[in-house]
Formats: sequence, structure tokens, C-alpha cells
Amino acid sequence: MAADQRGKAATLALRRRLLSNSCRLFFPEDPIKIVRGQGQYMYDEQGAEYIDCINNVAHVGHCHPLVVQAAHEQNQVLNTNSRYLHDNIVDYAQRLSETLPEKLCVFYFLNSGSEANDLALRLARQYTGHWDVVVLDHAYHGHLSSLIDISPYKFRDLDGQKEWVHVAPLPDTYRGPYREDHPNPAVAYASEVKRVVSSAQEKGRKIAAFFAESLPSVGGQIIPPAGYFPEVAGHIRRAGGVFVADEIQVGFGRVGKHFWAFQLQGEDFVPDIVTMGKSIGNGHPVACVATTQAVARAFEATGVEYFNTFGGSPVSCAVGLAVLDVLEKEQLQAHAACVGSFLMELLGQQKAKHPILGDIRGVGLFIGVDLIKDEATRMPATEEADYVVSRYFFLETSCICSVYCSDWERAPRLPLLFDPRPQTCWAHRVQVIPSLSSHFKQDNTKAAGAQTQATTSLHFTAPGCLRSSFSRATAGTMAADSLFLEVFR
Ligand SMILES: Cc1ncc(COP(=O)(O)O)c(C=O)c1O
Repeated sequence: MAADQRGKAATLALRRRLLSNSCRLFFPEDPIKIVRGQGQYMYDEQGAEYIDCINNVAHVGHCHPLVVQAAHEQNQVLNTNSRYLHDNIVDYAQRLSETLPEKLCVFYFLNSGSEANDLALRLARQYTGHWDVVVLDHAYHGHLSSLIDISPYKFRDLDGQKEWVHVAPLPDTYRGPYREDHPNPAVAYASEVKRVVSSAQEKGRKIAAFFAESLPSVGGQIIPPAGYFPEVAGHIRRAGGVFVADEIQVGFGRVGKHFWAFQLQGEDFVPDIVTMGKSIGNGHPVACVATTQAVARAFEATGVEYFNTFGGSPVSCAVGLAVLDVLEKEQLQAHAACVGSFLMELLGQQKAKHPILGDIRGVGLFIGVDLIKDEATRMPATEEADYVVSRYFFLETSCICSVYCSDWERAPRLPLLFDPRPQTCWAHRVQVIPSLSSHFKQDNTKAAGAQTQATTSLHFTAPGCLRSSFSRATAGTMAADSLFLEVFR
């Protein structure tokens, strides 16, 4: 039976029976069954169209014809492991090297972001001869055991912090200890890393690496102050460690001005290791680690082969190359800069009107909206944000919205955004982003009704677009033309 012919309830029942409950669904109370995707749109089994506001994978659009064609053509010829000489893997490494600083010139290909970060950890340990890791609070770096250990977002709910893991505060100038009025938050937050390193060293620990997302996304769409990474790298390198930039969510042009988010930290800043995943293959499992000759040589010196059956296969590399081609041909990096600044402008206008919008921060199509209860205390409006992210709305076009929300204690943020289709930005049609607070003054019955009826006050005037709200506030990925804060009155 074709998957799309099975009713939603039957699929759900099978899933509940056969899959672990640990593998969660979006909108678990009323999951959406998606059977097709195109561009920034997804379609359910009934043919309803959604704007995909979640995806940080379908970077150049769902089922982009050039990417699909590249995979298909290579699949017809050969797909095997990377122990045979093949042009795709070297062509791909060369193309990636053209996007990176010269020093990052050795590449490893893998299948997932987690594999990339796990290899980065091995490389760092081998190169430095040290074991310990400094991470930013609230970070997530992957699902392997090694990475759960360096992900405060996860380990706090599990076994807790290992003695070889050291947590530094997020460089959050909105809610952290050093804020926008601090004369030099970059240096101040980097000093926190130095403090963490020194305290580890006092206990006889030795630092192998500092791991950070170049823009902490899981940690709440944080934009580290410029100059923070170079300062941190100085402290870490003096302690004998290396700097690992996790670009798994934020790389490949998302930030608009640069191809890599770490480049926001200054022209001269070069991490020792960069990890890539998610958007790199537009849905195909591809990942990559780029590093320096020095780090790679130390790893080689063990004499132990690095072998990864599927990593860097001819098909994966063909897909990776096609994604780079599309980014270039369709000028999506420039598009991210342009649409992103437009959205920031729109959101800025809304912020002036709605006190619940505490902070609007972003660069390119990495944008966060921080909902607050009170301007003076900046207390996170977690309940409101939870409410917003727990629903999506059906009108002619619906939006599925994202997520990484509030299972952590900080305020959820609006998503990363990426509109793969430059011609369709209807964000400018957003007329009102009313106050969530007013919704919370209502009784719950009315609020529940708002989910299915167009009783809300957010209006999109474009035919075919939402005329009610829908929403999605938090850190996830969202098509740029569907950026909206949900809202009810
Ligand atoms: C910042 C970051 N690093 C690493 C990973 C792990 O990637 P994957 O799920 O492909 O293993 C993720 C996944 O969400 C991520 O967001």
C-alpha cells in the first residue's frame, strides 16, 4: 500500500505500536501526515498545503529538481564507499574549501551532524592530548553518547554533567549577565570562559576543545557579540585546546552576509575545526568536518584508519555539489540577507507596538523573537510561547511551525528562517502582530476555539495566505515568507 493511501489514524496507530515513544512527532496531539514537499511547501495526505516553517534541512527547498536530478543520475551510475578513487569526493572537498579560510583545508565526510561533532571531539583529543571540553550553556551538539555528554540541553535531564565537561555562560546580551549596555560584552563573556578554564585547570583538568554553535540556536537564537570567539579562542588555545565551530544549523549562507556564521566574528577569526550537517545535503544524509593540516596530521599519526562506510559516497557528494550549485545559481545567500533584514524591520515595527515582544535579534535568516512577561525584568513569557508553538492553523495555506521550544527554561525564540523561493515573500502583508498577553486574559475555551476558527486578530491580506494567525515562536527553522508571530485576542 502506498504510504499516502493509508489514513492518518492508521499510520499513527502503526507508529505508536512499532516505534519508540522517545521518537517524538511534531504536534503530538494532532500530528500532521506529510506526503510531499516542494520548495517551501509541504502537503498532507488530503492535499492540504502547508508552509514549512520548521525546516533547517531543506535549505534550498524541498525536492529541489537539481538536487534530485544529481542524486538520481549518480545513483544510476555508481554508489559505493569512499575507498575507491572517485572524482565526486575530491570535487566536493575542493568546492567546500573555496568557501572556507585557507587553513581549513582537510575534509572528512560523514552522514550526520552528530557523527561530525563526534569526529571533531576525537580530532581535538588526539591533537591536544587533552580530554576535557568547554561548552556553552543550553547547547546541543548531537545524539551520540559522546555528544549528549557535551550538551547541557540534554545532560541536565539525564546523568548530569561529567567531570570532563565545563559549562560557560551563553554570550546572551539580552538576558545574560553582560547586556547591551555593557562596554565590552565580548571580552566580558570571554573572561567567563577563561574563568571556567582556570577553575578546571585548578582541579588538574586539561582542555581539549571549546565547542560552540557559531550562533547558538538551540540555546535560544543568540548572537554572540563580535570579537567574542577570537577572545575565547585565545583563552582556549593558551590552555592547549582547539576551537570547534558547529555550523550544523547556521552554515551555508543562512546568515546572509557570510557563507559561514563564524565569519561574523571577524575576518581574521579561523576555528581549528568546523562541523557541517543538516542543510549541507538538503535532506540527504551528508555531513562534513573541515580542519587544519596540523590537526589532521596528529590524527593520522595514530596510524588508525578513519573509515566511514557511507560518508563521502559518490551520491552524497553529488548531492552536496548540487546544493552548492543551487545556492550559487539562485543567489540564496544574498536572498537570506535581503529577506532577513526585511523581516527584522517588520518585526521591529511590531515590537514598538507590542510589549510582549521583548527582543528581536537576527542576522540573515537566523532570527529570534524573545517573548517576555515584563519589560523591566525581561522575564521569559514561556507559557505564552508554549501556547504559540503548540498550534498551527488551517486556512487556505497553513503553516507548520517549529519548535525547539520551552523544554528548556529560557524563553523560546522564533525560528531560523530560510525562504528558498525568492519570489514569494509575503511577510510584508503581515499587518498586525497583536499581543499574546491579551489572549492570556481570555478564558481557555475561547482560546481552544481559536485554533480551528479564524477568530484571531492576525491578518494576512494576501489571498491564499493565512488570514488568521498561526504561529510559531521559538528556535527552529521557518521559511522566511512565513515568519509570523501568532496571535489571538
Ligand atoms: C547544533 C547542532 N549540532 C549537531 C546536531 C546533530 O545533528 P544530527 O541530528 O544530524 O546528528 C544538531 C541537530 O539538531 C544541531 O542542532
